[in-house]
Amino acid sequence: MRKLAVSAAMTSALIATAVAAKEPTSTNADAWQRAAATEKKMTDTERVVMTSGITALPNAGEKIPEDAVLGAGYVAGIPRLGVPALKETDAGLGVSWALGARGNEGATALPSGMALAATWNQELAYQAGQMVGAETRAKGFNVLLAGGVNLVRDPRGGRNFEYFSEDPLLSGILGGYSIAGAQSNHIISTVKHFAFNNQETARKFGNVTISEAAARESELLAFKLAIEIGNPGSVMCSYNRLNGPYTCGSEWLLQKVLKRDWGYKGFVMSDWGAVYEPGFAWAGLDHQSGRSSDPQVYFADQLLTDAGTDAKRKSRISDMNRRILWAVYSNGLDRFPVLPGEKIDKAGHEALAGEVARQGIVLLRNERGALPLAAGAKSIAVIGGFADTGMLSGGGSSQVHGDGGPAAMIPGGGRGLFNGWEQYQRGTTPLAAIRKRAGQDVTVTYRTGNYIAEAVEQARKADVAIVFANQWQSEGRDNPDLSLPRGQDALIAAVAAANPNTVVVLQTGSAVLMPWLDQTAAVLEAWYPGVQGGEAIASVLFGDTNPSGRLPVTFPASLEQLPHPVLPGHTEADPDKNGAGAPGQQVTIDYNVDGSDVGYRWFARQGHKPLFPFGYGLSYTNFATSGLSVKGGKATVTVQNTGGRAGATVAQVYLVARGKAATRRLVGFQRVSLDAGASKIVTMTIDLRLLADWKDGRWSMPRTTYYFAVGENAEALSSPIGIRLPAKRWAD
Ligand code: BGC
Repeated sequence: MRKLAVSAAMTSALIATAVAAKEPTSTNADAWQRAAATEKKMTDTERVVMTSGITALPNAGEKIPEDAVLGAGYVAGIPRLGVPALKETDAGLGVSWALGARGNEGATALPSGMALAATWNQELAYQAGQMVGAETRAKGFNVLLAGGVNLVRDPRGGRNFEYFSEDPLLSGILGGYSIAGAQSNHIISTVKHFAFNNQETARKFGNVTISEAAARESELLAFKLAIEIGNPGSVMCSYNRLNGPYTCGSEWLLQKVLKRDWGYKGFVMSDWGAVYEPGFAWAGLDHQSGRSSDPQVYFADQLLTDAGTDAKRKSRISDMNRRILWAVYSNGLDRFPVLPGEKIDKAGHEALAGEVARQGIVLLRNERGALPLAAGAKSIAVIGGFADTGMLSGGGSSQVHGDGGPAAMIPGGGRGLFNGWEQYQRGTTPLAAIRKRAGQDVTVTYRTGNYIAEAVEQARKADVAIVFANQWQSEGRDNPDLSLPRGQDALIAAVAAANPNTVVVLQTGSAVLMPWLDQTAAVLEAWYPGVQGGEAIASVLFGDTNPSGRLPVTFPASLEQLPHPVLPGHTEADPDKNGAGAPGQQVTIDYNVDGSDVGYRWFARQGHKPLFPFGYGLSYTNFATSGLSVKGGKATVTVQNTGGRAGATVAQVYLVARGKAATRRLVGFQRVSLDAGASKIVTMTIDLRLLADWKDGRWSMPRTTYYFAVGENAEALSSPIGIRLPAKRWAD
């Protein structure tokens, strides 16, 4: 097993090899031939064994085989042909807790996907994936249900915390690198949920409508990039419908786009409970996952019956097997079997989780240099957010807990499978980490914030008040609005009115509104910060870490600014039904409103001024970016640290106009660490798809002048430079 304690340079080299080869490092060059040869040896009965799997959890409706590991799923292998069983676990943020199915045994909890995206650091994404992959193996699994690259199309989406960003380039690159990292452990990773499952409301019946151009230019591009970089063995299709059919039964999405246009060799597995008829197999679905969560077992033996003597269907069954076998062979599941006794480098893994948290924390506001906390402060009032208990974690199948399970479970008010309990992770609590750093001469008090008067009284007496405020998100349910629940907005306003040195630390799934913003001295966005989150937050507050996170999503100033001020289906769908509907219920989720102008692109198109723009984040030092030039498909800029201490920033290059048509697209980014006074020339390759439109079945660039600008974020941009480019058309 590859050790995680490799230097950044080594990691870069390793990733470069893995990615440049466009094949996982473990690839056996003849995986496809081997797959075909094995498939040929199969009997018809064997040919349907791997086309379905069970949920490997107690009470899920099927007997769990002895060699299964309790977790998301199990697919029987074919021992006669040396094909191993597939043992599946969730997910991208660590080996999931699986509702406590494995007793007290936990795993290393990474910060949320959005925190990872806020680092804009693909090498860290690779290491995070590698870490989760190593734990996946050590716990006996060989398939990781990770790689959630759905775009954040709405800040209220219940799974935003699991995903990366609102931008296809950022999500595709970070998703791709984390998949490559996971698969470097000789396991299969998925990329999911293909596609357009961007909200939980009505997720199991909502029909997303979107034009082909908007689809290809937005979320499909994120998936394409993640597949090119990460080369995942499997693609998990989603719950929703897409322009009519369910995605798991969409011939257009699976056969045409994924397999024909993109030449994808791996297999498509369904999400759990996303199959409604055997016909999905003929439309391109290769595997029915967790089959007892569907109305019926449609694959397995049923496929043989339905295929009968139909040659086309029989060859489709062979194709399903070849694809599954390709994923197995190309990742070396047979040659590097998961064996008991693989050790987990717990300290190393937790340190990595801490690194992601530190790099992902975004400093949103810092008036009068309120942060880092001044050495002279003699008393600190810490208030709210269960800061004495643990770190908030997102709910659902991706939820990770350390050994012993949640530190606390607060009734979440929901009755769905996943949203009964708002759960906190174990680890050094934010309060303990603050106390440790403050030292013995500083008085640190804690109040829950349940009573505003009590919190105000503490804040008034202290030199500094730190309010922890939380917004919980969960699979299966969206947030109805962007407020902080349980009266926390009022709590912050009252504390800030009592103490001008009020610092707010947010643990949120994605964007929230901040009606109290102007009253505060400083605001930190810590996302769901994982097992080392308390330490990471304290290290930023006290200045041991210079914050460098940049927002991977736009923070709107109001719900009215969003493409859908009311979430589609919000009034019709029952939030306690985990996204399912009543028989025959229909909801349209119209993405043609914003089309491919997701997030900051929508804000630019509408001229809306957000609360905080995409790409935004402050530092304890200052940076200047200058000298943008674009030549030969590459953008070059000089980044300088003009302040007094070392820090990191992210150079961001945007396309701002084509000819006379204004637009806004991130076309390149690079995280840069610089000592005080140092500068660096940064070069970024521009993917031409980001300059093009999808037109008549191809990418198409008009012959015109393309204007680029470099910025601190999607709004604070340099004056543009223009270059003339020829017309160009090419296939996906
Ligand atoms: C989720 C998937 C997950 C699967 C298996 C579903 O509810 O949507 O992301 O991989 O369950 O646990």
